[in-house]
Amino acid sequence: MTAPLKHPDTTIVDVALGDRAYDIVIGRDVLGSLGARVAALRPGVRTAIVTDKTVAKHWLQATEASLSAAGIPAARIIVDEGEGSKTYAGLEKVSEALIAAKIERNDLVIALGGGVVGDLTGFAAAILRRGVDFVQVPTSLLAQVDSSVGGKTGINSPQGKNLLGAFHQPVLVIADTAVLDTLSPRQFRAGYAEVAKYGVLGDEAFFAWLEANHTDLFNGGAAREHAIATSCRAKAAIVARDERETGDRALLNLGHTFGHALEAATGFSDRLFHGEGVAIGMVLAAQFSASLGMIPPSDAIRVERHLADVGLPTHLQDIAGFAQEGLADADALMTLMAQDKKVRRGKLTFILLEAVGRAVIAKDVEPAPVREFLQSKLKA
Ligand SMILES: NC(=O)c1ccc[n+]([C@@H]2O[C@H](COP(=O)([O-])OP(=O)(O)OC[C@H]3O[C@@H](n4cnc5c(N)ncnc54)[C@H](O)[C@@H]3O)[C@@H](O)[C@H]2O)c1
Ligand SMILES: [Zn+2]
Repeated sequence: MTAPLKHPDTTIVDVALGDRAYDIVIGRDVLGSLGARVAALRPGVRTAIVTDKTVAKHWLQATEASLSAAGIPAARIIVDEGEGSKTYAGLEKVSEALIAAKIERNDLVIALGGGVVGDLTGFAAAILRRGVDFVQVPTSLLAQVDSSVGGKTGINSPQGKNLLGAFHQPVLVIADTAVLDTLSPRQFRAGYAEVAKYGVLGDEAFFAWLEANHTDLFNGGAAREHAIATSCRAKAAIVARDERETGDRALLNLGHTFGHALEAATGFSDRLFHGEGVAIGMVLAAQFSASLGMIPPSDAIRVERHLADVGLPTHLQDIAGFAQEGLADADALMTLMAQDKKVRRGKLTFILLEAVGRAVIAKDVEPAPVREFLQSKLKA
């Protein structure tokens, strides 16, 4: 485990979903193989690439070149970057552009971007002519390890995030780890929280490996491919068991019940990126598990230390503007959590830890100890 890894050529992770199975192709510079892979999958296909302005600046040309070298025509559809495009207006823009580009039932839509572009494009493809296949080319770390895998697509409602959507699996995912070199360090770090999450929720050995190898991963060494492949395998295994989240898939929400409440409390603004909320949320979930006697306090400290080591926020007090603007009080956070997750007879569902590497779905969590716990954390 201590010898430096070499860049593997290409790693392929199979998402085993029967007749909807697909490959996730992971590696440095695999974007160049997009055209050949699409041509092999769908000879004679026409495509449209949906991307955002920032990603277009860095990666649209290379994507178009790869398709064109394989003789595949590609229209381009460019939306504004950011969550503001995951809206009815964004969906209308993309859908109308796909129709104008004459993308038909047997054609392919290509999502080139982070989770916003992936969710929006996947949903547009799901409803275009009652369903057109699509390819994910995730360009953020979060998208490569999480949002591009598993088939959840959708947009936001003014009443809440991700309230409109469809399960629509891609037919291919191309995760080029070199593309991450142009991502801002803060975005990269936020995506890393989801990588660490796979270790904390189900794989202690992977978590220990991350503790030892995170520097190489951040620097673009071969640890990056290994971590992305391991994360995709973990997600693919859970999705294959429970595609529509009737059971185990909920484990992927580790850190997200607290995290979403913090995102909502900061208005889904740049004060807190999603992955940063997940990092704090994971620490809170670990600390709360420790307060219930499910894990020793040293396990919660271990999770916190690793996330802090890579520069992620781990405390409520780390949220930008906490000292000046404060944050919602415990009651307001409780209300936000109740809105986010189904409350059954006044009880909350949380993903808690039985060990580092073993998360469980706790369905009947009483609100009172959660409120008390949050109060103590807000004061700390
Ligand atoms: N479908 C799912 O299962 C799932 C899972 C997790 C998150 N999500 C969704 O994903 C979204 C968040 O995804 P995200 O964090 O990737 O956000 P994002 O798509 O907004 O990307 C973050 C920023 O990075 C920029 N960017 C992306 N790739 C880049 C690159 N290679 N170089 C330079 N800049 C680049 C984008 O332009 C954007 O400004 C949320 O809407 C969330 O709800 C979906
Ligand atoms: Zn997440």
